[in-house]
Amino acid sequence: MGKPFVYVTRKVPEHCLGELREFAEVEMWHEEEIPVDRETLLAKAKDATGLITMLSDKVNAELMDAAPNLKVIANLAVGFDNIDVEGATARGIVVSNTPNVLTDTTADLTFSLLMATARRIPEAVNYVREGQWKNWGPLLMAGTDIHHKTIGIVGMGRIGATVAKRATGFDMEILYHNRSRKPEAEAELGATYVSFDELIEKSDYVVCLAPLTPETKELFDLAAFRKMKDSAIFINASRGAVVKEDDLQQALDEKEIAAAGLDVFLNEPIGADHPLLKYDNVVALPHIGSASVETREEMTRLVGRHCANVIVGRKPEYIVNESVWKG
Ligand code: DGY
Repeated sequence: MGKPFVYVTRKVPEHCLGELREFAEVEMWHEEEIPVDRETLLAKAKDATGLITMLSDKVNAELMDAAPNLKVIANLAVGFDNIDVEGATARGIVVSNTPNVLTDTTADLTFSLLMATARRIPEAVNYVREGQWKNWGPLLMAGTDIHHKTIGIVGMGRIGATVAKRATGFDMEILYHNRSRKPEAEAELGATYVSFDELIEKSDYVVCLAPLTPETKELFDLAAFRKMKDSAIFINASRGAVVKEDDLQQALDEKEIAAAGLDVFLNEPIGADHPLLKYDNVVALPHIGSASVETREEMTRLVGRHCANVIVGRKPEYIVNESVWKG
């Protein structure tokens, strides 16, 4: 009998899957930036014991039904809203994700995005590149201070707390809102728990790091933006669907907020004609929260280990649907 088959839905660093190859026959889609087409994925799933999936793959009933031998779906992301976890649980399939290894990297990106938006970095870079810099002026490309301002973090999980840690270095006042209180963040970082409304009303920087759930879907709508300060800067590094994008646009048009930094969008990837790209005060990134070479390699090793573990009957480090393992 041959080794179990694991299919990887995108080209990932080959050398990071060495350990998995001891236990499985591994095949991966040959493109790094072009997703596997559905037909190929469904055909590969047919023989797969494991699937290593990306946040852009829709892992639904159709795919799981096409994979009668599937035991593990290892998602290369901390978020797993692309997966029908309930459906996987019902079929006895382990779903795993990649928390911890990407925490610092994603916090770095979130804080960079905040700084880039506040200090108008992309606009200033383009200004120089386009030859517009003819004179120095006292208010040329003047942005907004970060130090000593109030940051409000919605979603105080690992990444939220790590962003808060960075904010302490900028002498910021830290507010947070979360499903549950975080006593360690309060004690160690001086963060103050507040209601969602109080957070959005008082913060200079409203930073969303909450996972996408039915509760957070479209949490940031026009009413929320209207409650924010006119000078507030909104940063989203979680999932696009937490924002009503039309409402964000209206809030920017009506100057309900000052600017937005967005790493994520409702329908990714967005094209150059996306309406939010017409604003100079919107900084848009292509969902690169955890995109450092070191971290993406570590995430790849981790998903490889998750598959190998399930294949040999060992519990993977991070299971989303624990009940499947307990049986
Ligand atoms: C994740 O892992 O869920 C992040 O969105 C990646 O940047």
